[in-house]
Amino acid sequence: MTNNNLTILAIETSCDETAAAVVHAGTQVLSNVVASQLDELRRYGGVVPEVASRQHILAMDAVIGEALAAVPDGWAGIDAIAATNGPGLSGALLTGLNTAKALAFARGLPLIGVNHIEAHIYANWLNQGSEAGSGEPMTPQFPLVALVVSGGHTLLVLLEGHGHYTLLGQTRDDAAGEAFDKSARLIGLGFPGGPAIERAAEGVQSDLILPRAWLRDSYDFSFSGLKTAVLHKAQERAGQAAKVAPRNADKSLRRQNPPAGRATAPDPAPPAAAPSLPRPLDAHFVAQTAHAFQESAVDVLVSKTVEAARQYGATEILLAGGVAANTRLRAELSRRAAVPVRFPPISLCTDNAAMVAAAAFYRFAAGVHSGWDLDVLPGLRLGE
Ligand code: KG4
Ligand code: ZN
Repeated sequence: MTNNNLTILAIETSCDETAAAVVHAGTQVLSNVVASQLDELRRYGGVVPEVASRQHILAMDAVIGEALAAVPDGWAGIDAIAATNGPGLSGALLTGLNTAKALAFARGLPLIGVNHIEAHIYANWLNQGSEAGSGEPMTPQFPLVALVVSGGHTLLVLLEGHGHYTLLGQTRDDAAGEAFDKSARLIGLGFPGGPAIERAAEGVQSDLILPRAWLRDSYDFSFSGLKTAVLHKAQERAGQAAKVAPRNADKSLRRQNPPAGRATAPDPAPPAAAPSLPRPLDAHFVAQTAHAFQESAVDVLVSKTVEAARQYGATEILLAGGVAANTRLRAELSRRAAVPVRFPPISLCTDNAAMVAAAAFYRFAAGVHSGWDLDVLPGLRLGE
C-alpha cells in the first residue's frame, strides 16, 4: 500500500447529517451512506444542536456498518480513518470525531481531521473522470477558483495547489443557502428552502426583479437585503389579500407558519425571518417571488465567480456545497464562464462523508495526519 492507493473510511457529523463513506485513492467511492435528520428538523422547525448530536449517536453504528459492508475485505481493506473536526456544531462534531478516534485507536490506523469547507470543495475530485480519450482532465487542475455555497458558508476561493487556499471573498451576512432557507420560509415554502425555491421557480416567466448586492470592487457577498426585499413583497401581498378577503383569516392561519429554517446561523431569529403574515400567499405570487429570488442570488454568485476566474487566470471553476445542487446556478455559471465549470453530482453537493474522505486523502498524501489530541473546532476556517 502506498499513499496513492489508500482506502479511507470517513465520518461526517458537522450538522444534521450522519454520514460515513469509504473512498479509494481519493476519487473512487466504494460506499457513501447518509442518514438525514429531516424528519426531526421538521418536527422541531430547524436544527436543534442537542437533538442533532443525539441523532448522530443513534444512527452512527448502523451508518458506519453499512459503509463498511461495501468494502470487500471489511476492516482489513481500510488504511486510515478521517472525520470532520470543524467548522460546525460542537456537540455534533464531537460525536463523529470521537467515534473516528476510538476506531482508529482500536484498529491501529492513522487519524485524519478534515475541514468541512475543504471537504465540500474536494467533492469535485470524486468519480469525476470523463471517459478515456475525451481529452478532459480526470481531476481538477490548478490554479482554479472554487465557489463554496452551503447553508452555513459562502466563499470564493483561489486554489493554487492542494491545501493552498487564498480567500477572495465571503458573505458579510447570510450564507447563500441560509438566504434560500429564510426566504422560502417567508413565502410559505418548506424546509430546506433551496430545493423548495428551485421547484417553485421552475418554468416561471416573470418580470419581477429583486435587488442584487454587488458590493463593487469586492468579491464579498451580501444576501440580507435580498431576504428583506422578499419579506417586504410578502407583507405587501398579504396586505393586499387582506383587503380583498378580510373574513377568511381563521382558516388560512392554520396553514401558515411553515417550519423554520435551520437555526444554526449566527442570527437564528432575525426579525425579518419570522413575520406572521395573516394568510397564505397565492401560488402565483410564491412562484414569481421564488423565481426572482433565485435569479438575483444566482446572478451575483455567477458574476463574481466568473470575474474572479478571469482575474486570477483560473483554468477551471469548481462549484461546491449544498447550493451547488441548484440547477439554475449550475447552468448559468457554465453558460457565462470562459473556462470549464465542474460540479459534483447532486448527492455529493449536500453534506456527505465521501467528500471528507477525498479531502483526507490529499491531506494524508501531503504528510498531514492528526494526533489523539485533535479537538473539534466549531469556528475552523479554510486553510487553518
Ligand atoms: O452543504 P449543506 O448540505 O450543509 C451545510 O454545510 O450547510 O447545504 C445545505 C444548504 C441548505 O441551505 C439548502 O437549502 C441548500 O443547501 N440547498 C439548495 C439546493 N439544495 C440544497 N439551495 C438551492 N438550490 C438547491 N437545489
Ligand atoms: Zn456542508
